[in-house]
Amino acid sequence: MDPEAQFINGLLELQYGLDVQDKLTTIAHNVDWARGWPSNTISFWNAEAFMWSHKIEKKTRQLITNELSSLQGTNLDLGCGAYSYIPSTGFDISPKMLDFNDNLKEKVVGDVEKPLAFVDNEFDSVTAIFLLNYVTHYAQLLSEIKRIVKGTFIMVLSATKVNEWQRQKEKNHYDKEKWVSILENNFSVTVKEKDDLWFFTCTKQS
Ligand SMILES: C[S@@+](CC[C@H](N)C(=O)[O-])C[C@H]1O[C@@H](n2cnc3c(N)ncnc32)[C@H](O)[C@@H]1O
Repeated sequence: MDPEAQFINGLLELQYGLDVQDKLTTIAHNVDWARGWPSNTISFWNAEAFMWSHKIEKKTRQLITNELSSLQGTNLDLGCGAYSYIPSTGFDISPKMLDFNDNLKEKVVGDVEKPLAFVDNEFDSVTAIFLLNYVTHYAQLLSEIKRIVKGTFIMVLSATKVNEWQRQKEKNHYDKEKWVSILENNFSVTVKEKDDLWFFTCTKQS
C-alpha cells in the first residue's frame, strides 16, 4: 500500500481509538500534505478533513444553517473547513478541507493569524464557525473582519469543551461574557445560547 493510503487507513484506526499515533507520525513523513502531522497545524487540519463529515452532528449543522439563513449577499466563511452552511467564499489554512467543501463559490488558502488579503467592505457578511478558539491573534483578526465586512459578522463557538484530540490545537477557551467584551472593541454584539452553542451576532459600530 502506498504511504498516502496507509496514512488514511491509520486515521480511521485512530478515529476508532486504536493506539496508532506513533506509526502514523512516521508514515506522515512520506505524505506531502501530512508531513509534520500532528504537530504541524496545516497537516493536522488536512488530516481532519478526511473525517470531517463525521465530526459534527447533523442537527448541529442544521441549527447553524437556520441561524445563518438571514444573511444576504456575499459571505466570507473564515476557517470554513470541509463544510460551509451558506454559499460562501471559503477561506482556510488547510487545502484538503477546501477540497472537500462543496458549498463554495471561491476557495482561498490563507492564515487568519495574518492580515487578510481582501479590500475594505468587500463582503456583505462574514462568518467564523468553530474557529476563534484556534486563533492566537484574535484581536487583529477581529479588526480585519471589521475592515472587510459591510454588514454582519456571525461567530459561533461551542459552549462545551471541544474533544481532546482537537483541543491540542486550541489557543484559548474563554467564557461567553469574555468573548462579548472582546467583540465589543469592534462591534455592537448580541449573543444567544442554544443547544450548547454560542451565537454572537456582530454589527459595525458607526
Ligand atoms: C473546527 S474546524 C471548523 C470548520 C467549519 N467552520 C465547520 O463548522 O465545520 C476549524 C477550521 O479552521 C481552520 N483553521 C485553523 N486555524 C486556521 C488559521 N490560522 N487560518 C485559517 N484557517 C484555520 C482549520 O483548517 C479548520 O478547517
